[in-house]
Amino acid sequence: MEKQELKNFENQKLRTFGRRHGKKLSNRKQWLMDNLLPKIAPNITDFAEKPVILEVGFGNGEHLRDLAIQNPDSIIIGAEPFANGVAALLSAITNESDNSLIDEYKNIRIHPDDVRLMLENDKFKNIKFNEIWVLHPDPWPKARHEKRRLLNHDFLNLLSKFMTKESSIIIGTDHWEYYDWIVEQLKQTNLVIKSTELDTIKTRYQIKNKAGTTNPKYLILSIN
Ligand SMILES: C[S@@+](CC[C@H](N)C(=O)[O-])C[C@H]1O[C@@H](n2cnc3c(N)ncnc32)[C@H](O)[C@@H]1O
Repeated sequence: MEKQELKNFENQKLRTFGRRHGKKLSNRKQWLMDNLLPKIAPNITDFAEKPVILEVGFGNGEHLRDLAIQNPDSIIIGAEPFANGVAALLSAITNESDNSLIDEYKNIRIHPDDVRLMLENDKFKNIKFNEIWVLHPDPWPKARHEKRRLLNHDFLNLLSKFMTKESSIIIGTDHWEYYDWIVEQLKQTNLVIKSTELDTIKTRYQIKNKAGTTNPKYLILSIN
């Protein structure tokens, strides 16, 4: 890619999220970012034998942790560019006494950046995800910001390259206008709506999400 093209590409990417850094990290969190994070990067050799689940934009990682517990025999990859969110997750999945990983979270891998940078990396081109979760993507409600929405047809088409006929994308949002917009985007993809209900509400996060003050709608997508 030419230098200018690369710059535009990077700018376009960075615009899909808000802040990358918030308040300064505590010493423990900074230590985890510097020392643990590199050790739990997504690693191609991990995926050969185990099913893989991806969560895009995990925020503070509450749902990602639930996924790890619910699916002990799968690898759970979380992608999140917001450093404070990544640090919050690292803190929650480690023992405070010695910063070691808590056993039930040993199947978690973290890509601390835009998920598209991972998916466009040749190294991962043959991975297939069983499930891809995108919960409460930034809605970018103003019309002039619509192009920043992550779940546009280009991104959905990119995700579909990493799916088999059995895979699902699970999207949850309480921003109903964004929901309708995603449904429109699907027309330019090979994805179809399999369901609009989560059949089994398994995780604490999903229960909270369903029972909370917000009213999320779901889209479960599969390849046509
Ligand atoms: C509104 S928050 C929702 C967080 C979490 N999923 C939840 O339900 O609490 C949206 C998250 O998506 C992340 N995000 C936005 N664009 C992304 C991208 N291209 N790749 C990975 N994460 C992204 C943001 O940093 C933010 O943490």
